[in-house]
Amino acid sequence: MRRKLVIGNWKMNGNRAANSALLSGIVAGLSDFGAECAVCVPAPYLAQCQAELQGTPVAWGGQDVSVHASGAYTGEVSAGMLVDFAARYVLCGHSERRAYHKESSELVAHKTVAALAAGLTPVVCVGETPAQREAGETEAAICGQLQAVLDLISDDDVARIVVAYEPVWAIGTGKTATPQIAQDAHSFLRARLAQKNATAAAGVQILYGGSMKPDNARELMAQADIDGGLIGGAALKAGDFLGIIQAV
Ligand code: G3P
Repeated sequence: MRRKLVIGNWKMNGNRAANSALLSGIVAGLSDFGAECAVCVPAPYLAQCQAELQGTPVAWGGQDVSVHASGAYTGEVSAGMLVDFAARYVLCGHSERRAYHKESSELVAHKTVAALAAGLTPVVCVGETPAQREAGETEAAICGQLQAVLDLISDDDVARIVVAYEPVWAIGTGKTATPQIAQDAHSFLRARLAQKNATAAAGVQILYGGSMKPDNARELMAQADIDGGLIGGAALKAGDFLGIIQAV
């Protein structure tokens, strides 16, 4: 049985004062909802998360990771550095990095390997663009993004990844995918995972991301292959983030 997982992706938002208010609001509002939860924050705030979330049910992580362990890579953050701040998760291949930083699926695969090697749980983000959706190329697009990772990791490591399906046309737009559209994509992704390791695939948490809010979370997460959410805008308000967690 897969536990539900709700991860807040703060993107490039926050300041120390607002972070403290948000984190304390989330922790204070949590009870035994049954879902796992985490926040993926800008790297400068990892120390604050470690200090303020240690010992709470809320895990934390990064939003990107270098493929390198160390060296002359100005501005990059290594998996070991994330582990230094007791991070559990790291986003790999978020659509905004694929778009703005031209991250290829091959690069995302190597980032995933680097995260796994350091003991982190990579959240492998896949999702089609509006043009790919309109052209009927959704499955080809998300298959290519996921397969690049599956081609590089071991069969056993399938059990150690989380996958996030984030249709680009739903991110930050308020145009949430219908539960059926999301379920179809999640089911397709789980079938691809099963081709590599059927046993592990049954346990992989596949999260939906793209305008998930408290008022649509329950119907989305009731779908057989939707195991939680990767939340952007609604992660920045404790009440909204808790509303999604409570919808599990
Ligand atoms: O990584 C999650 C994010 O891309 C979704 O953003 O604002 O549509 O929930 P949002």
